[in-house]
Parts: sequence; C-alpha cells; structure tokens
Amino acid sequence: MYQYTIIGGHELKGEISVYGDKNTALKLIPATILAANKCTISNIPDITDITTMMEIMKDLGAKIKKIKTGQFEFDTKPVRKTTINPLLARKLRASTVLMGPLLARFKKVSIPHPGGCVIGKRPIDIHLDAFKKLGAKISIKDSYYHIVTKNLKGTKIIPHSISVTGTENIMMAAAMAQGKTTIEYCACEPSIVALADFLNQMGADIRQAGSPKIIINGQKQLHGANTTVISDRLETGTFIILGALCAKELVIKNCQPNHLEVFLEIIKKAGVKIKRSHNQIVVYRSKHLKPNNITTNAYPGFPTDLQAPYTLLMTQADGVSMIHETIFEGRLNYIEWLNTMGANITLCDPHRAIVSGPTPLVGKKIVSPDIRAGMTLIIAGLMAKGKSQIDNIDLVDRGYTNLDQRLKEIGARITRKKI
Ligand code: EPU
Repeated sequence: MYQYTIIGGHELKGEISVYGDKNTALKLIPATILAANKCTISNIPDITDITTMMEIMKDLGAKIKKIKTGQFEFDTKPVRKTTINPLLARKLRASTVLMGPLLARFKKVSIPHPGGCVIGKRPIDIHLDAFKKLGAKISIKDSYYHIVTKNLKGTKIIPHSISVTGTENIMMAAAMAQGKTTIEYCACEPSIVALADFLNQMGADIRQAGSPKIIINGQKQLHGANTTVISDRLETGTFIILGALCAKELVIKNCQPNHLEVFLEIIKKAGVKIKRSHNQIVVYRSKHLKPNNITTNAYPGFPTDLQAPYTLLMTQADGVSMIHETIFEGRLNYIEWLNTMGANITLCDPHRAIVSGPTPLVGKKIVSPDIRAGMTLIIAGLMAKGKSQIDNIDLVDRGYTNLDQRLKEIGARITRKKI
C-alpha cells in the first residue's frame, strides 16, 4: 500500500504533460486478439491497470514485447486459452472487453464478473444481451459466465442504456461476425472512435463510430496494424482544475482540448481562465469562481469521471452549486473526506450533492476511495493549509502515471511512502 504526504498551500507553476488515455489503451490491447499477425501500440500509459491487462493477455498466451517506453508489440497468434484468470479479472473492470474479441476469434470465452472501482453496481447485462443477439449462448457456473457460439451472426442491437465498454465489446464481437450489425444508442467517447479506427486499420469495416448509430460489416479475418493511444482527456480535465485551484499558471501539454468541449464551456462559465491551442491548454489560478450546477452525462456531456474534481472546484466558488451524478450511484463517496477538510457539501441522495462555497480547506488524514476521487483528494491536499496524509494511493496509481514526480516538477510538496 502506498501513501502520499502533502504539504499544501504552495503555489504551483510550470508545465505538465498528459499521457496516453487509460480507457483507450485498455481496449486497444484486447483488440489485438482479433489480428492474425503482430500489432504495435504506442503511447501506452505506465499505470497499474495496464500492467494488469498485460498480465491477463500473457496469461491467455499472448507474447508482448516492449519496444521502447510506451510502445509495445503484441503477438496474439499463440493465444489458446479462453478462460480469463479470476484473480486478474477481479482487479480490472476493463477485463470485460476481452469477451468480444475472444468470442469472435475462438467462439467461446469464460470470465468471472469483473472488478474495478467501487462506484456503483456496474452490471454487464448489456454486453451479455448483445452477445446473445449475435448468436451466443450464456451459462453461469462456478461464478463464471461461460459464453459459447457456433457462429456469430450480424444483427440489430439496441442497448437499454449508453455503455462505453458495452459498445466497445459489441464492436469487437461484430467485427468478425457474419454479415451486418447495427448498434443504436451507442457511446460516442473518443475511445470508441480510436478503437474503431484501429479495427478498421486491421481490415474491419466499422462505420459512424463516434455517433449514436454504428454499422459494422463483419469480416472473415483481420490482420496486424499499428496505432498510437490518444491523450487522456480525463487527465487533462483534472490538471485544468489543479491549475485553476493551485497554480499561478499551468501549461498542460500533449492534450486534445477538442475531446473536452462541454467540460471547457462549463468551467469557463464557472470563471476558470484558460487559453487553448490544438494540443495545449494554459490555465491560470481563478480568484473569483462562480457557482455553477452540473449534471454528468454520456459523452459529449459533462464526464462522470470529472465530477469529483469539479465538486472540489465548486467548494471555492462564491455561492451554492448542485452536483447531479447520473451515471453511477456510488460516485459521491469522497464528499465526507472533503467535508472533513472543511468543505460544506450536503449529500442529498446517492446522486445529488449541494456545495456551499467558498470554504478554506485544511490538511487531514484521508483515504482515497477510487481513482478519480483519489486524484481529487490529492488536489484538495495541495490547496489545503497544512499537512495531508492520503492513504490507498494504489487506487490512484491505476490511472495516473508517475504522478508524484510530475507534481513535484511543478512545485508540489508531495512525498510517496510504502506502508
Ligand atoms: N450499465 C448497465 N448495464 C451494463 C453496462 C452498464 O446498466 O451492462 C450502466 C452502468 O451501471 C452505468 C451506465 O450504464 O450506470 C454507464 O456504464 P458504462 O458501461 O458506460 O461504464 P463502463 O464502460 O463500465 C467506462 C469507463 C469508466 C467511466 C464510464 C462512463 C472504462 C474501462 N471505464 O466504464 O471509467 O466512468 O465508462 O464514462 O472504459 C475510470 O476511468 O475511472 C472509470 C471508472
């Protein structure tokens, strides 16, 4: 277990670079199972979720070679196993996205219910219903879902809700199904577009990814391809809030502001000053933040993953803001920790909170509840007066590369300790 100690209240300044997107890399890696020959992926972030995904791939039989930092070659020809290691699957929600490619290539896959951040119930019925529609049979035995098919056949799929990994799984299964699949009510995240682009480079025929309706013409075989992971829009958004709260001027490099349009509009409304170019954002400490309500939504709406840092921002706004989390019912659990530090936030129900600001924060001993909330508490520690100790940093390591080092480089007083 790792712990951060932070001495807060010191102004940050300088440049911070954004790494490759966790939630894209976690889908591109399983996609290589569909390729008949080797694939190379660059800009893969060095985070523990990726290490777990690589371990699962190796356990299945894949050969993975590091070419240089962030760049790996994947040879999935030797893969024979179709049962996903339960200990590894339980560490990682994204282990679900192995179902689609394994089912498409081997006609069978067995997987335990996946783990990941405890932010809500997180069912996988959308994935399973879609596989059934594509012609698979599903049984549950010994805590495993066993999915088998004689042949996947293209069909029309309308999920009951917008699901990111659901859309990605269906795309990968349908890429090698017989005939045409139409998915309506799709997720539109940049990770979906990046995955479709990669699959198309492998020879798939996937159209309109990034829109609510995706059309896939199944192919008999896919071949190897190379790709580069897009930059992490959630890391970018988090650093913008870090800059607005703690930095005189923070230059956020290697980012894609066009993946964050709604978020950028909303934080500008809240009084955050930014300057953007096509791959860089400069943010300045905001002295007069205005209260502003948000409702989280599927992309391109306000991202649920930036809800926690935004709530922290609103603790410094002059007035009352309503935070409405519509995607997950367990994503306001960090609020008690912010209140311990001096915030004035009322949790109305599992989906809504009212933030009254501005409130100065003071350093405390706190515990990170999940990746995004943990990152929020780190920013709270950096802006708070005095010393904070944040436990359970292992959860933050799942999503942010080399974080303490990057924060030190912009002036943060932060130390990491193994306990
Ligand atoms: N849902 C169902 N049935 C399903 C799948 C989802 O009812 O079969 C519901 C969920 O309970 C939730 C909503 O649909 O209420 C959306 O869930 P979604 O499936 O889109 O979430 P996910 O694919 O499991 C991904 C990201 C999350 C991110 C969400 C929402 C990955 C690996 N994870 O999760 O990222 O919060 O989309 O954008 O891509 C993170 O990075 O910290 C993280 C949690």
